[in-house]
Amino acid sequence: MSRKTLIKNATVVLPDETIVTSVLLDGPRISAVDAARTTVVDETIDATGLHLLPGVIDDQVHFREPGLTHKEDLSTASRACAKGGVTTFLEMPNTKPETISVERLAQKLELASRKSIVNYGFYIGATPDNITELQAASRTPGIKIFIGSSTGDLLVDEQAALERIFAETTLPITAHCEDESTVRANAAALAGTENVRDHSRIRDERAAIVATRRAIDLAHRHQHRFHVLHVSTAAELPVLADHRNRITAEACPHHLFFNVDDYDRLGTRIQMNPSIKTAHDNQQLWRALLADTIQVIATDHAPHTLEEKDRPYPNSPSGLPAVENSLALLLNQVNLGNCSLQHVAHWMSDAPARVWGIVGKGRIAAGYDADFTVVDMKRRETITNAQAGSRAGWTPYDGKEVAGWPIGTIVRGRRVMWDGDIVTPAQGRPVRFSEAL
Ligand code: DOR
Repeated sequence: MSRKTLIKNATVVLPDETIVTSVLLDGPRISAVDAARTTVVDETIDATGLHLLPGVIDDQVHFREPGLTHKEDLSTASRACAKGGVTTFLEMPNTKPETISVERLAQKLELASRKSIVNYGFYIGATPDNITELQAASRTPGIKIFIGSSTGDLLVDEQAALERIFAETTLPITAHCEDESTVRANAAALAGTENVRDHSRIRDERAAIVATRRAIDLAHRHQHRFHVLHVSTAAELPVLADHRNRITAEACPHHLFFNVDDYDRLGTRIQMNPSIKTAHDNQQLWRALLADTIQVIATDHAPHTLEEKDRPYPNSPSGLPAVENSLALLLNQVNLGNCSLQHVAHWMSDAPARVWGIVGKGRIAAGYDADFTVVDMKRRETITNAQAGSRAGWTPYDGKEVAGWPIGTIVRGRRVMWDGDIVTPAQGRPVRFSEAL
């Protein structure tokens, strides 16, 4: 007999409305929304005054295991997910060694089965010559191409290799779009700089738009499902809007909430690839989310230690931790009146589930998986380094006060986090993928 749980009196966030009701869980699945409150169950969770969102899915994280576990590992990272209300993550291949074969993909899945307290999936990375691995891979959301290089050695920027990957593989493709030759030329022109502001001049708007156009052209000609990661400029938006039927896209909190004026305050802590851009870009990315030109919000959680980050530019690595802050930052936007809870549920759960064809996730409905994020929209908190669950131990949002806070994370019908405490050990499972959008 499976375990039954009743979440009672929750304010349930459905795609078109918000209703106060009770949700019945049968083991790892939702058996009824609007369930009778008298149902006999093993556990009752009283969610009076709390909102129930479909579990947050972060479709772009770098969790550093294997090989770089002084920065993060699957245990610390998945705990950080649970603290931030994230029930599922999809992780990138630039670990050490890189996830560029079926065998390494299987190794990561095995590691996660022992260590992750939330659900997981892992991308396979493209190299100029691993096409047979990309063709053989399954149990993965898709293929990640670094069209421009970032942290690690993965890079495919030669046209013939890119044509082959788009022509001869069937998994969905996603890419880091910054044009390598533009970045190298800008870096040569600014050689010797120690000014972190130059990071946004080296990885400039042109680098982003050239690579995004190039990738979309490939996807269009080869009729391949394609998702643009971490869009950072207003300049990329028209081409995304033109290809809305085949191409999806993602924005990250740091490209929404930081711009070049923040370098004075935060220095290399906000050094990211793609670089942060201008206040105008912040505004236009936000508009693109509201207009559904960008469908997904993900973090690109990329932890480095403070010792590494505080090295003088350009010896400082690009990347920042965010997986446990993103939802709270977005709930704060709801409280500020800039978007709705339906938007947040769409960008952070339903859209990533549909973009990657994740089976049974993204909605609160009978038959779906019992993954939920429970939030208190009235709770005010200040994000601090001291709270950080990531092994990196810091956050670029240190000192920021937000209204709206994740207070519970339920994975497959069981609470893994409640009021900041991790309450059950490993519950995560690999997610399953059907046809993506
Ligand atoms: O700034 C970044 N850091 N961007 C990426 O795409 C990779 C990431 C990392 O892994 O450190």
